[in-house]
Amino acid sequence: MKALILSGGRGTRLRPLTHTTAKQLIPVANKPILFFVLEQVRAAGIDDIGIIISPETGQNVRDTVGDGSRWGARITYILQDTPGGLAHAVKTAREFLNDSPFLMFLGDNLIQGGVEGLVRAFNDAGVDALIQLKKVPDPRQFGVAVLDERDRVVQLIEKPQNPPSDLALVGIYLFSPVVHRAIDRIKPSWRGELEITDAIQELIHMGHRVEARVLSGWWLDTGKKDDILEANRVVLDEYARRDIRGEVDGGSQVVGRVEIGTGSRVVNSLVRGPVVIGSNVTVIDSFIGPYTAIAGGSHLERVSLEHSVLLENCRLVDVERIEDSLVGSNTRVCRSTARRRALRLFVGDDAEVVI
Ligand code: DAU
Repeated sequence: MKALILSGGRGTRLRPLTHTTAKQLIPVANKPILFFVLEQVRAAGIDDIGIIISPETGQNVRDTVGDGSRWGARITYILQDTPGGLAHAVKTAREFLNDSPFLMFLGDNLIQGGVEGLVRAFNDAGVDALIQLKKVPDPRQFGVAVLDERDRVVQLIEKPQNPPSDLALVGIYLFSPVVHRAIDRIKPSWRGELEITDAIQELIHMGHRVEARVLSGWWLDTGKKDDILEANRVVLDEYARRDIRGEVDGGSQVVGRVEIGTGSRVVNSLVRGPVVIGSNVTVIDSFIGPYTAIAGGSHLERVSLEHSVLLENCRLVDVERIEDSLVGSNTRVCRSTARRRALRLFVGDDAEVVI
């Protein structure tokens, strides 16, 4: 069994962060989402992994992930020259996949409990496709599946206006090599993409068996800012532990599950977990509230920060209250001492500032 992780696409909904980084590399609890995906793929016993990359962010992904030895995996990078859809990505990876069955995993999705069970179910069921589903309140923004009473998939529709069920396709699929024949038979959709949903529907038309499993744990699709914050909250809730490697002075209080990396200093501050603080971070006269992740190299002074994600090397000084925020690396936010009170902004393309 091989795995194909999709880390291409444009990431337009996460601009401006995705001007400089791949959306799959945005950290949740200080770890790139893609690393969680790689861990889950490895935990399912798969070590031959192809990663789809785009011309815009592919180098960034290669530099961050490397050759896979960190996970005991062999990684092959596959360049998809244009984001032509999920089935187009499979087509692009045809040579890598060869005639092997494979697990396909969208690189910006996380599920509770990993994929080990699903891989086992696929091997046991002897079907041509097994898809992971999840009940959601509003399925219109996802692929949606209709099942018969034996959990066989009878219909799949991509982003329907009137969803025929509340079962959304989580971006995790298992395929036998017959899927390549189905992909060869489909045409681009209304949005101009070769849809994997259409390929699976074609498999059904061709008389192949397609089954589904419905996930009971959480599923996080980290496509937008609030999704990242929610993912950060859920992951910190589940995985954060108390591990203090940096220095905490006598005037500070660190409460609950808080990780503080090496070379970091907390001075005269209150940190209330779950929180993760990377290495070489300084926190002075501040309050860091629950569900916050601060990446390495940042400096925070007289700041109150809660339910937020800060990327590397940020500088926040004299900011009373920041909440529900996602802040890109090397960002500076400070209070002006000038008498005329005004906001002075130096903000990148596609940024969002709420005052
Ligand atoms: O998140 C689950 C949903 O993912 C499913 O419910 C849908 O059925 C499925 O089509 C997909 O929908 P999205 O519109 O959310 O897909 P998105 O364009 O965000 O791409 C998903 C991932 O795949 C993302 O990490 C980028 C990568 N990708 C995407 C395309 C279109 C590629 O690597 N190549 C591509 O050509």
